Amino acid sequence: MNESCLDTVKSRCSIRKFGNTDISEENVNAILEVGFSAPSAGNRQPWRVVVVRNKNTKSALAEAALNQKFLAQAPVVLVVCAVPEESAQRYGERGKTLYVLQDTAALTQNLLLAAHMKGYGACWIGAFDESLAAKAIDVPEGMRPVVIIPIGFIDGPVPERRHRRPLTEVVVSERF
Ligand SMILES: Cc1cc2nc3c(=O)[nH]c(=O)nc-3n(C[C@H](O)[C@H](O)[C@H](O)COP(=O)(O)O)c2cc1C
Repeated sequence: MNESCLDTVKSRCSIRKFGNTDISEENVNAILEVGFSAPSAGNRQPWRVVVVRNKNTKSALAEAALNQKFLAQAPVVLVVCAVPEESAQRYGERGKTLYVLQDTAALTQNLLLAAHMKGYGACWIGAFDESLAAKAIDVPEGMRPVVIIPIGFIDGPVPERRHRRPLTEVVVSERF
């Protein structure tokens, strides 16, 4: 295992200020390919990603996201959608309420890391009104927007790495 790769993963942080230089379709696709290499329960891949470049759609998404206006500044905004029924077909209730969210979370983290490794900034946005976001991107029935990810060139200094709780606080030894 390559230690510098581990350091790169650790150096990812949320970026909320973007320059307006565009991202090529080739680079967006490269990020998506890494995203979709994420694991999913039973390899169902119960997900879709909507790629948004349209200014009005980005503004509508920013409004849906409780006015987090910075997201509309990014040249590309990805909307990660869950398709709960595709997981429910095999796993029933557990698929619909748990696996599909774990699957889309894994996809999201892969997308964030891919963007970071390509030299872009990105942010996981989970605070949004789901029905407004669905309306903004006109998602078909059965697709649930779960995460919004603005991606762009970083404008200004990279923020300090945010504090992480020490291992002693969050790792629990087995008790038997
Ligand atoms: C489920 C989830 C929801 C989040 N929602 C938002 C959000 O709506 N807006 C935002 O600016 N950041 C959001 N974040 C980013 C977190 O604030 C951020 O990851 C955390 O503070 C750690 O900082 P770092 O990503 O720079 O390490 C969210 C992160 C997660 C995992």
